[in-house]
Amino acid sequence: MARILQKSVFILAVLLPLISAFGRFKHGRPKHGMLGAPPIKEKYNLPPNMWFEQKLDHFNDADLRTWNQRFFINSTFYTPGGPVFLMIGGEGEANPVWMVDGAWVEYAKEMNAFLIMLEHRFYGKSHPTEDMSVDNLQYLSSEQALADLAHFRTVIGQQMKLDKNKWISFGGSYPGSLSAWFRLKYPHLVVGAIATSAPVQAQLDFPEYLTVVRDSLATSRVGSKCNDAIQKATNDIDILMMHMTGWQTLTKIFNLCSPLNGSSINDVANFYETIAGNFMEIVQYNKDNKGFEGGSNNVTIDTLCDIMANESLGTELSRYAAVSALLSDGECVDASYEKMIADMRETSWDSEAGVGGRQWTYQTCTEFGFYQTTDTDQQPFGQHFPLSFSIQMCEDIYGKQFNKTTNQAGVNFTNTNYGGREIAAYNIVFPNGSIDPWHALGITKSTDMYSAIFINGTAHCANMYPPSPDDPPQLTQARTQIKDTIQKWLSQ
Ligand SMILES: *[C@@H]1O[C@H](CO)[C@@H](O)[C@H](O)[C@H]1NC(C)=O
Ligand SMILES: *[C@@H]1O[C@H](CO)[C@@H](O)[C@H](O)[C@H]1NC(C)=O
Ligand SMILES: *[C@@H]1O[C@H](CO)[C@@H](O)[C@H](O)[C@H]1NC(C)=O
Ligand SMILES: *[C@@H]1O[C@H](CO)[C@@H](O)[C@H](O)[C@H]1NC(C)=O
Ligand SMILES: *[C@@H]1O[C@H](CO)[C@@H](O)[C@H](O)[C@H]1NC(C)=O
Ligand SMILES: *[C@@H]1O[C@H](CO)[C@@H](O)[C@H](O)[C@H]1NC(C)=O
Ligand SMILES: *[C@@H]1O[C@H](CO)[C@@H](O)[C@H](O)[C@H]1NC(C)=O
Repeated sequence: MARILQKSVFILAVLLPLISAFGRFKHGRPKHGMLGAPPIKEKYNLPPNMWFEQKLDHFNDADLRTWNQRFFINSTFYTPGGPVFLMIGGEGEANPVWMVDGAWVEYAKEMNAFLIMLEHRFYGKSHPTEDMSVDNLQYLSSEQALADLAHFRTVIGQQMKLDKNKWISFGGSYPGSLSAWFRLKYPHLVVGAIATSAPVQAQLDFPEYLTVVRDSLATSRVGSKCNDAIQKATNDIDILMMHMTGWQTLTKIFNLCSPLNGSSINDVANFYETIAGNFMEIVQYNKDNKGFEGGSNNVTIDTLCDIMANESLGTELSRYAAVSALLSDGECVDASYEKMIADMRETSWDSEAGVGGRQWTYQTCTEFGFYQTTDTDQQPFGQHFPLSFSIQMCEDIYGKQFNKTTNQAGVNFTNTNYGGREIAAYNIVFPNGSIDPWHALGITKSTDMYSAIFINGTAHCANMYPPSPDDPPQLTQARTQIKDTIQKWLSQ
């Protein structure tokens, strides 16, 4: 297994230049999905792939088609009668490193739990259809994914003689929402749910994201200088964008792969979004992205803000370009709209879009929205990627029927279906990090039914990673609080 792991690390390393070319961070989702993974250590002996026969369409009894869904188990800590912890896969390949490391493994050691992780349909190696044509993507939805979990829980529970045990679901980011919704929709199948950094409220336009990015950048050691410098750089770009020599200048200083076409509204939008994406990604994963594949390792909010505030690095615009250069590792930056759309239209599982970009964008265009737009002046990244840009992308990738009205209707139904922030289910914990831009769509208040755990100063999904000596005390405390809550549920 170690060998296979090394190989996949090697393949990833080879893919990295492609990642920068493709745009490493789109719509709040890094190339491999929104949840990172614990650092890969040599000593790991990873569990093998296992497969479960799953229905293609849970909501049509006449459709008997099936496919194989991937899952992993680790029973090392299990003693008969112990709980079963179910990690819910999300919008990227399920990474088996989670089966041997992470906060939940620590809980399992103490509570003698059986660990299971189920990969989400349409991601990783869980392919329900022969390709990702628009017609086939109709089977990609959170509701089908929850029904997969329910069927899996029932059948595997019987087969592995775990059906009388108490099950707890875990997830971070979109799977955090799935974890809460699994408890909501199938309360007889899990006694409790941990829903980390879960954006449970669907929202078409999500400009609050960039406002949290701004606020998080302001916590850096250079304070407000960071946002001031970004704002100044944005103003300079706005001026250069007015004429053709300015487009050439921007092409050169941002090392773009193809000449910027300042008269194409979509190229302009994609350019602004791509360079703002550098800051969005680093804020979203500040300090918890160590070892994250394709992630930024030791680059933090302070790294970027130190550059933005450093006058010896030239104008604010040069510093903005220096941040882009740091994160693109010497590769050219692809900001072409047409190239991006062409990549996202690829329907083959082997295509670059097959690592999740096409699938996740489809889910945003049909169920969630979550578009991180510039539709607020409470952020320093300009006004050039409004809601209309994201809607245009949906139409250009999947077809004209994926327009603003259908997208808004889908978002409305998601909130009607699950309750949004008013989710009516008990025994759920919602940990959130103050730095994480997604917290703006999360549960912010504890009620009688569920508890919100606020972790001051941490980013996306911090509490799921393995404990580290560098962790701030409030993070350690959050992990303990989660553990105590699980123990309480198990003793009920
Ligand atoms: C389960 O996880 C532990 C802790 O990392 C590891 O030592 C063990 O090898 C794993 N067991 C299996 C079957 O993967
Ligand atoms: C730039 O974009 C405009 C508007 O989309 C288009 O008409 C023009 O052909 C493009 N120019 C180049 C060089 O691609
Ligand atoms: C990150 O770590 C690498 C090697 O560990 C080092 O070369 C690099 O300078 C570091 N980058 C920053 C921004 O600290
Ligand atoms: C500013 O950048 C210069 C040149 O890279 C570097 O030597 C210096 O240490 C930086 N200053 C700060 C405060 O980071
Ligand atoms: C979505 O819900 C909002 C608020 O309830 C409503 O105003 C709007 O008409 C709905 N839109 C669609 C397309 O269903
Ligand atoms: C996280 O949850 C706490 C409640 O425990 C709440 O006070 C806080 O506002 C939430 N934080 C964010 C940033 O949503
Ligand atoms: C979070 O921590 C910062 C600095 O450590 C402090 O200034 C701030 O008041 C804290 N916020 C909350 C909501 O506890």
